[in-house]
Amino acid sequence: MIFPFFKKKKEKIEVPRFRVDLHSHFIPGIDDGSKSMEESLLLLKGMASLGYTKVITTPHIMADAYRNTPRSILEGLEGLREASREAGIDLTIEAAAEYYLDDGFEALLEKGDVLTLKGDYLLFETSYFAKPMQIEEMIFAIGSSGYKPMMAHPERYRYVKDPLEEYSRFKELGVFFQVNLNSFSGHYGKDAKAKADFLSQEGMIDFLGSDVHHKKQVDTLSDVFASDAYAAIFEKNRILNDTLL
Ligand SMILES: [Fe+2]
Repeated sequence: MIFPFFKKKKEKIEVPRFRVDLHSHFIPGIDDGSKSMEESLLLLKGMASLGYTKVITTPHIMADAYRNTPRSILEGLEGLREASREAGIDLTIEAAAEYYLDDGFEALLEKGDVLTLKGDYLLFETSYFAKPMQIEEMIFAIGSSGYKPMMAHPERYRYVKDPLEEYSRFKELGVFFQVNLNSFSGHYGKDAKAKADFLSQEGMIDFLGSDVHHKKQVDTLSDVFASDAYAAIFEKNRILNDTLL
């Protein structure tokens, strides 16, 4: 007979194994993320208490919805830094952007009017349902403009029907994959979780992001950090978050 209480309890790590988060919506009032400075401070406090030491926040830039510019984002960043300093939050805060691949994006890229992450990574997203017709051309254009294309949450695109084939093709095109941590808990549904696990098993993940828009997405992170799926990521993937320190 086996006495279950004699079984050694598995040790769980409940903090990230890196210090930098590179995808979030902390600047208040400029996209669908934080709605007020008060909310932003709550989110930042939560990130600091999880063990992050630096966040690179990435407001949406989308021609039809969020017409942010490097200037509006950097102004917002200044306000956020000041409020965070006054609140005594111990976090380095930087900003870049999350670019939606639309016609507006091509024009910005041509002008070189883009905000990128350290290392010249350019974070981009697409529609969840329809694969952009010109996606390969746009990825190529990002590379030929001197930036490294980083796809936000590849696991969330419903148009990916053949994960091995389609993700491998993006990798051939030089795309870095930033998977959302909360995808591993099923926060975005079964399809996103299955694809996140697939990318993890295939060793295709380069960066892990919080993509925090609101408090619940901070609160669920510690459960992700304690999960087996999270521990498994580090067996097959080389996570590059701390190259952005
Ligand atoms: Fe995002």
